[in-house]
Amino acid sequence: MASGEWNEPRASTTGNDDTRATRSDRRERQAASPAPGDDSADGDSAVEWVELDLEAGTGIRTATDGVDVVVHAASDPRGDHEAVDVDGTRRLLDAAAALDVEHFLYVSIVGIDDIPYSYYEHKLEAERAVEDSRVPSTVVRSTQFFPFVASILATVRRLPVWPLPTDFRLQPVDVGEAADAVVEHVEPPAAGRAPDVGGPAVHTGRELAEAYREACGLRRPVVRLPLPGEAAAAFRTGAATCPDRAVGTRTWREWLDGQDGVPGADAY
Ligand SMILES: NC(=O)c1ccc[n+]([C@@H]2O[C@H](COP(=O)([O-])OP(=O)(O)OC[C@H]3O[C@@H](n4cnc5c(N)ncnc54)[C@H](OP(=O)(O)O)[C@@H]3O)[C@@H](O)[C@H]2O)c1
Repeated sequence: MASGEWNEPRASTTGNDDTRATRSDRRERQAASPAPGDDSADGDSAVEWVELDLEAGTGIRTATDGVDVVVHAASDPRGDHEAVDVDGTRRLLDAAAALDVEHFLYVSIVGIDDIPYSYYEHKLEAERAVEDSRVPSTVVRSTQFFPFVASILATVRRLPVWPLPTDFRLQPVDVGEAADAVVEHVEPPAAGRAPDVGGPAVHTGRELAEAYREACGLRRPVVRLPLPGEAAAAFRTGAATCPDRAVGTRTWREWLDGQDGVPGADAY
């Protein structure tokens, strides 16, 4: 979490560094994570780190005390997301309510109400907890970040043939552009459900994979992996996209071209 000077309010940010870093010149901030960084590690003199673990419930009061705005981008998609995203969000909301936080800004994912996938179901539960809280709130949903998509593709890069859900439809976005769009909502008043944030174009899984393959200088065949189930069907119909909210300008190909080494190999 982060706290700040700038024309007020004081902001506290859980999780994601990219969200935390945006508008760093304007706000006194406090960043919180289970593994805090160094104070001012990004060269910004106004960042203080505190240790916070939403699953264990430790550090929440310290991270929230005296804070006007909480930006909650903490999540554990590869771990116990019920404990972190649902229970942890409730703990954070309880502290925010007790300490009269003015605004709670929550980062979520486009299409989660239409995609029955357990992580998304927990994100939806967290959204509902945010909306039901007495703390004024804003929920901003984004599409998938480029490094996340690249991290999936990086897992198949050594295979002679790439089996992938080529017919999924995704609209990935630059994480910095998504963070900028989220931070636009930091200032109270709370907006409830904010407009979605998506990348510049909807792509099929095949298009994303072929651009990735080219960026890696590889010639592997990309073959369709037929995934069963409702969640996969929802990804195929574009439930995770928001074409009318193509806010990002940086394209997938531009992002790939800007990466050193294997894109996404170290992303998560
Ligand atoms: N990735 C995507 O494609 C995508 C798309 C749309 C929306 N989102 C949402 O955007 C947010 C950030 O996503 P991301 O992919 O950037 O996530 P990320 O890189 O995995 O970062 C998640 C953050 O949560 C923190 N965290 C994990 N467990 C925690 C705990 N027990 N207590 C406190 N903090 C904890 C992590 O801290 P450490 O760094 O110390 O581990 C990390 O800073 C999430 O809410 C996610 O649902 C992500």
